[in-house]
Amino acid sequence: MAQGSLALESAMRDVAEEIDRQFDLLLPVPADPRARLYAAMRHAAIGGGKRLRPLLTFASASLFAVDPACASRAAIAVECIHVYSLIHDDLPAMDNDDLRRGKPTVHRAFDEATAILAGDCLHALAFEVLADPATHADPFVRVELVTELARAAGPVGMAGGQMMDLIAEQSSFDLATVTRCQALKTGALISWAVEAGAILGRVPPEGRTGLRGYARDIGLAFQIADDLLDAEGDEEAAGKKLRKDADAGKETFLTLLGPERARAQAGLLVDQAIAHLHAFGAEADLLRDIARYVLERDR
Ligand code: IPE
Ligand code: IPE
Ligand code: MG
Ligand code: MG
Ligand code: MG
Repeated sequence: MAQGSLALESAMRDVAEEIDRQFDLLLPVPADPRARLYAAMRHAAIGGGKRLRPLLTFASASLFAVDPACASRAAIAVECIHVYSLIHDDLPAMDNDDLRRGKPTVHRAFDEATAILAGDCLHALAFEVLADPATHADPFVRVELVTELARAAGPVGMAGGQMMDLIAEQSSFDLATVTRCQALKTGALISWAVEAGAILGRVPPEGRTGLRGYARDIGLAFQIADDLLDAEGDEEAAGKKLRKDADAGKETFLTLLGPERARAQAGLLVDQAIAHLHAFGAEADLLRDIARYVLERDR
């Protein structure tokens, strides 16, 4: 990990272990023809990735003394949506990638139909997990989690951003449109991950302004870092094929601003994200560390 604090490194390790453990429990392989589908889900979901979104949910939930078992369910739900989005993003009809998290993509290790279905199932699993009473005793809290995650995943969130991203390969977006695309494609799920901690902690919407500002800024910085990694990163460390955006002729922050200004912009966003946490004390230090990590990361 690039220059992470010790507390961040240890939190990332703990969250990675917890998410692997949860996926292992949620996805037992049945002794029938669906075994292939479960194997494909396990291939994508277990043992890889930074688990940034789950980490954000745990970090945010810890501000409001949320039961870690409840936070863990919200964390696994957002990672389900994220992993599904990666499986579909890698399909030949989208980015046509062979490598993800240092392993063959699901359609490579299995086949395209299985990859589509594995994505579908992880999408559904996210909502099943959230709707379960084990996620929170209060059904209103569960409904808010479900509703907000549905928004963050759909046409006003990740999937809408993915549509814009595909269009960005054929047309020349301006900075405002690229910003909107990234806010939907990447920002919406990151925002949900942060907000889920506050929802679980029964913080009313008017008390979430600082966290929302934090999430919006790190979401954008995170995608600028992804674009910088695509242009300048190391494939081995990233565990995925790079130099894809330029090859696809995609309009990104890099094509619009150039690497220097894009990096500077992302740095400003990280500072701004940390400033949004001013109402919190040392209990928000993990969120501050995550904000810095978003840009310093090498994978
Ligand atoms: C990659 O997300 C796709 C984007 C939204 C840019 P991550 O960089 O979080 O991927 P993993 O989860 O660590 O593999
Ligand atoms: C994908 O963005 C964002 C998703 C919603 C999955 P990218 O296509 O840039 O992600 P990578 O670079 O393949 O991880
Ligand atoms: Mg893509
Ligand atoms: Mg991709
Ligand atoms: Mg990318």
